Amino acid sequence: MITCEDFQNIPSLASGIGYREPWAKVLLETGNGIDFLEITADHFIDSPKWKIDQLKELRQRFTLIPHGLDLSLGSAEGVDEKYLEKLISIIEMVDPPYWSEHLAFTKAGGLELGHLAPLPFSNEAVDVVAKNVQKVRELISLPLILENITYGINMPGHEMSEAKFIRESLNASDCGWLLDVTNLHVNSVNHSFDVSEFLEEAPTERVVQLHYVGFSSNKRGYLIDDHGSPVNDEIWQLMDKVLAICPAKGTILERDSKFPLFSEIIDEAERARSIGKKYMRWD
Ligand SMILES: [Fe+2]
Repeated sequence: MITCEDFQNIPSLASGIGYREPWAKVLLETGNGIDFLEITADHFIDSPKWKIDQLKELRQRFTLIPHGLDLSLGSAEGVDEKYLEKLISIIEMVDPPYWSEHLAFTKAGGLELGHLAPLPFSNEAVDVVAKNVQKVRELISLPLILENITYGINMPGHEMSEAKFIRESLNASDCGWLLDVTNLHVNSVNHSFDVSEFLEEAPTERVVQLHYVGFSSNKRGYLIDDHGSPVNDEIWQLMDKVLAICPAKGTILERDSKFPLFSEIIDEAERARSIGKKYMRWD
């Protein structure tokens, strides 16, 4: 069984970014201001040799944390074993202190949804996640952390709050929490709940890593986690609140589109590093 203490033994990683190919050259040549990288494991599955070589080169320079997209730990039909084998081969290649996936499903009834779908906040969903994680652990025993996602509509069948669902799921599966600060903020606005109350009920003691990035909004004031905006003030404020109370080992900036100058990415990473330093999460 993996406990909170095991997560506390993970070394501090400080301030990193999600690796994106346009930044390969600058990262490999200098890497200044970036403490570690998150790699999207799916981008390297079945990829050509040059890409695997690039991954190995990045590994020589940085700690890499593999982040999976398509394991679908919330699928009642179980996980796809062939996909899992490929995922594990990427994870083992980069030898990380832990890896991450989502509290979500991407497959249902043999169909690929093509996106992360939210689970009903139910006891049955908690059991499905725990069962799937247990199966995965038979093949890979590294600590696993799960991320809270955004949801456009509330799924029918909720039996508890989202915060309690995260707590129950992580407890039942012995996983840490990849707390996506932007997803939390976006959900709190779109579904009108209080972030402080959420954090009181949520398993903040299980937080291992944060995600953050800017959000945008549509004309109706609905927030969108488009991963293509500079980090908004609301997100910096929430990062501060979260890092004050959560034993996070590191933060990852998740910029996926409308790439700015790399110096702007460095500045955002530096700001996240300084917030964590303020609360002695790292040196
Ligand atoms: Fe995220």
